[in-house]
Amino acid sequence: MKGSLFTTALYTGQVWIRAGVPCADLFECNEAKLVHGASTFLMSAGQLFRSDGPQLEPALVQRHRMMDALVEEFEGRYVLELAAGLSPRGARFSSSEALHYIEVDLAPVLSVKRALLARTVQGQEVALRENIEFVAGDLRSMDLADLVPPGEPVLVIGEGLFMYLNAQEQRSLWQRIAALISGRAGSRLVFDLVPSCEQAPGGTAGRLLGRVMGVFTGGKGFALDERTREDLCRDLRQCGLVSPRFISPREAPESWCVPHLELSTEQLLFVAEASA
Ligand SMILES: C[S@@+](CC[C@H](N)C(=O)[O-])C[C@H]1O[C@@H](n2cnc3c(N)ncnc32)[C@H](O)[C@@H]1O
Repeated sequence: MKGSLFTTALYTGQVWIRAGVPCADLFECNEAKLVHGASTFLMSAGQLFRSDGPQLEPALVQRHRMMDALVEEFEGRYVLELAAGLSPRGARFSSSEALHYIEVDLAPVLSVKRALLARTVQGQEVALRENIEFVAGDLRSMDLADLVPPGEPVLVIGEGLFMYLNAQEQRSLWQRIAALISGRAGSRLVFDLVPSCEQAPGGTAGRLLGRVMGVFTGGKGFALDERTREDLCRDLRQCGLVSPRFISPREAPESWCVPHLELSTEQLLFVAEASA
């Protein structure tokens, strides 16, 4: 899978392990340690003169925690996690039979995820659960309509995905998500995206990671454009989603226990609801 966005999943998978996220160790592997180590080295080298810039790992842990909190608050049964990569969220939350968890990613990524789960008894137990599914597909064109039984409210999560899609690909996916959740009261979409116009110029960790990932992934770095957070909300509305809003870590409810609020981070979650 050389030259693919799976490298980014290896990187974040290692971040979840380092942060002690439950079940993250199920996906521990040498490749992830190598990618994380090399990326951290390249980013620190790039930041030599900007050590005051926003910090990346704390920002990732913040978004992961905020999304976990939204799963904890969700009252429906179905969670659809897009581009799940090596995220441990499905393994963690599917321990509750009250939830049905569906993970989508590219087929080769899911093969690796299954292989990693197969190594341990705990991983095998997760893979055998009836309430977790792994569905292979390319989210730029994949039909989402049949993934969740009709009428069931669904929480759709897109963590670490939308920065790799260009504006047109984002809108296409939002339209398909809007069509999927329309009429399912209580359904919502949550994803992270820091508008490029808000990212600190040059040398900061987020942009550096984009460049570093561009090297690892054969040029598939962050897709940058000039839309502001308000523009993104307008796009979401035009795609059929309702009441779009953004939440920064510091604006999140205290009950979410978002960590690292004392640090400088760049992070922004978008949440939007289903139309009636
Ligand atoms: C930065 S990783 C995030 C993984 C996981 N959500 C996390 O936060 O740990 C990006 C993930 O997006 C997936 N991805 C990127 N483009 C995709 C596409 N067009 N269709 C399906 N998955 C895609 C990659 O395979 C990778 O697993």
